[in-house]
Amino acid sequence: MIRIIMLGAPGSGKGTQAQLLSKYFLIPFISAGEILRQEIKKNDKTKNYIQNTINKGKLVKNSFIIQLIKKKIKKKKYCNGFILDGFPRTIEQAESLKKNINIQYIIYLKIKHDSIINRIQGRLIHEPSGRTYHKIFNPPKQKNKDDITGELLHKRKDDNKKIILTRLKEYEKYTKPLIKWFRKEIKKNKIKLLEINSNKSITDINKKIIHYINNFKK
Ligand code: AP5
Repeated sequence: MIRIIMLGAPGSGKGTQAQLLSKYFLIPFISAGEILRQEIKKNDKTKNYIQNTINKGKLVKNSFIIQLIKKKIKKKKYCNGFILDGFPRTIEQAESLKKNINIQYIIYLKIKHDSIINRIQGRLIHEPSGRTYHKIFNPPKQKNKDDITGELLHKRKDDNKKIILTRLKEYEKYTKPLIKWFRKEIKKNKIKLLEINSNKSITDINKKIIHYINNFKK
């Protein structure tokens, strides 16, 4: 059983690494942002609230995302472990997770803020699956098409410079304090924290994470 949390600023590579780790360790990944984007498509009551919040670059209410994640991780598919990308992002979210499950690994991707804008502006996503690419750093095999389905790739609406700056402010205000909170938790519980420089290549980062986790599994 492996449960991993991916932590880091917007564009730090959480989703990219979660997808690669999922393939390597054969466990599913859960993206909080993706759950919210899917929710926009299927839930008329909450659609406007989620869309407006994401498009402002703000975090949705704790109670709202907590109930969505709780519901998700109860599913049978996740009973042998999972990789959580983008949750928790606040101390309140982390406290609620702690009440429900144990986490073994936290992977904290550290990135310089000036790299974030380039990454986010070049990102392309395959909307139905959430697969992520980058025009330069991680291009699809065929221009603008998903590698698996061949369907068209799109830019996320919140991937523009103005919204990114708000997302970064939210990160500094709510998620940075969470890192301190986790450092205290590590001392009390058996959680392992890997802090990794995310200004390296996707492959290098991936190798480091796998090496780190495999060392503990031995
Ligand atoms: P979400 O979709 O989670 O967005 P985010 O946290 O802002 O993170 P990103 O998806 O932008 O970045 P990432 O770290 O996954 O980077 P990626 O791997 O794609 O959330 C969207 C919104 O939903 C939030 O703003 C909020 O409103 C709401 N929300 C979500 N979770 C919430 C929560 N828990 N509580 C409240 N609200 C919540 O990489 C980015 C790009 O860089 C890609 O193009 C990739 O190919 C490229 N790249 C990746 N790694 C590298 C590398 N090493 N070198 C070069 N390029 C790279």
